[in-house]
Amino acid sequence: MFVGTHAVTTKVIRKWDNELFFTILNNINDVVLVIDSDTVIVYLNEAYSKVLGVPVSNALGRRLEELEPGSRTIKVLRTGVASSNNVGYLESLDMNVVGSTFPFYDNGKIIGAISIFRNVNEVVQLKSELEQTKGIADYLKEQLEQWEKLPHSFKEYVGQNSRLKETLVLAAKVARTESTVLILGESGVGKEVLARAVHNSSRRKDKPMIKVNCAAIPEDLIESELFGYEDGAFTGAKKGGKLGKFELANSGTIFLDEIGDMSLTMQAKLLRVLQEKEFERVGGTKTIKIDIRVIAATNRDLESMVQNETFRRDLYYRLNIVPLILTPLRERKDDLLALSKTFLKQFARQVDYELTLSPQVMSIFQAYDWPGNIRELQNVLEHASIVCGGDMIEIRHLPARFTTADGQYSSVQNKPYAVKENVARFEKELILLALANNNNNRTNTMKSLGISRRAFYNKLHRYGIKMED
Ligand SMILES: Nc1ncnc2c1ncn2[C@@H]1O[C@H](COP(=O)(O)OP(=O)(O)OP(=O)(O)O)[C@@H](O)[C@H]1O
Ligand SMILES: [Mg+2]
Repeated sequence: MFVGTHAVTTKVIRKWDNELFFTILNNINDVVLVIDSDTVIVYLNEAYSKVLGVPVSNALGRRLEELEPGSRTIKVLRTGVASSNNVGYLESLDMNVVGSTFPFYDNGKIIGAISIFRNVNEVVQLKSELEQTKGIADYLKEQLEQWEKLPHSFKEYVGQNSRLKETLVLAAKVARTESTVLILGESGVGKEVLARAVHNSSRRKDKPMIKVNCAAIPEDLIESELFGYEDGAFTGAKKGGKLGKFELANSGTIFLDEIGDMSLTMQAKLLRVLQEKEFERVGGTKTIKIDIRVIAATNRDLESMVQNETFRRDLYYRLNIVPLILTPLRERKDDLLALSKTFLKQFARQVDYELTLSPQVMSIFQAYDWPGNIRELQNVLEHASIVCGGDMIEIRHLPARFTTADGQYSSVQNKPYAVKENVARFEKELILLALANNNNNRTNTMKSLGISRRAFYNKLHRYGIKMED
């Protein structure tokens, strides 16, 4: 039994049966559990209470079968098959454990089982966190790869905002198919630019993309605009007839812009073309077959129009196969700088001088709502670059709505040394800057400005700074 132990230890060994034996067991960090043939727990070392957080006395003398009926120790007792370094789960304690279990014998008969195990909850937790992190990393990698693989026409689409990118990735996917695309977003958000990008990276890119502005064509002309007309179809009709937009777009793409502004009568006619891919010219009888891809766009809320019965439900379903939603600029202000730079570079080429934005202008831009979205930004910068005449665009170069929001800035231009007006202007700029730097977090902004809540709100009111709730 003591083979391999040194001779001088014999004195120690003599005490083996009692003190030393239990001292060793009680100083092992792993739990040692012994059951008899009735699964009664006959021994537990001290690690038990440390690891499981349950006093030894709670378990000693009780049947393991009652405490943990699915326990591996019971299985080992019944089968006689030892298990080593096995991962298990203790249901009663919600604990993951790893350890070894083996039976012990008397005269060849199993009289009990011993289990030595440790808590590995932390390891299991780490493992699951690692798996999740890996999953996220894979997802991000995939997103990045998709972004890198985006056709050129999408990469030119300025913006790094994550929601915008999601839309672009989806747009690139659908572009390769023949599916109808519905582009939704506020005015000036870039719906037409996106429609063109979809067309330009589709198989039809060498064929025309024909745009129909459904809002701009008078009701009585829209049918002939879309479907064309035969010679003499109506008074004033051109001699020889005229091709409609659908025929022009044949084998290419038709871009139905402002589709939400189409009358119900036209919607019915349009639905037929989309479904049958055929139509007749106004005043004609011959059925014309066409092969077109449809991209539609609107800034209207089609779903509520369907509810109000101002937009046909069947047409809505026909169009809404892959909706591409463009986020308004106020919700993707992280793209302001990149967009501004792009536009300034374009204007710089026209006017032949370099242009940059002052930090104050940038902070006003960050706080502004941009109801006209990208088109508004483009126009504001065009205005400013002309007024500025080169170098740095300052607040005073911006259109009046930016500088006269509170009626104070304009007077500053007339009274360049007026203390009150200049201080007020400076104060407003500071508040806007602080808001931008604190991501519009009011409490942090007040702190960084060093003013009370009451003073802060008074000033917001005074300077007409509107914040969303
Ligand atoms: N991502 C972008 N990068 C650069 N310029 C853009 C981008 N998105 C839009 N623009 C520019 O912003 C302006 C508005 O874009 P577009 O006409 O596509 O918007 P829209 O959503 O169709 O607007 P509306 O609803 O008023 O028709 C255009 O001048 C376009 O060139
Ligand atoms: Mg448009």
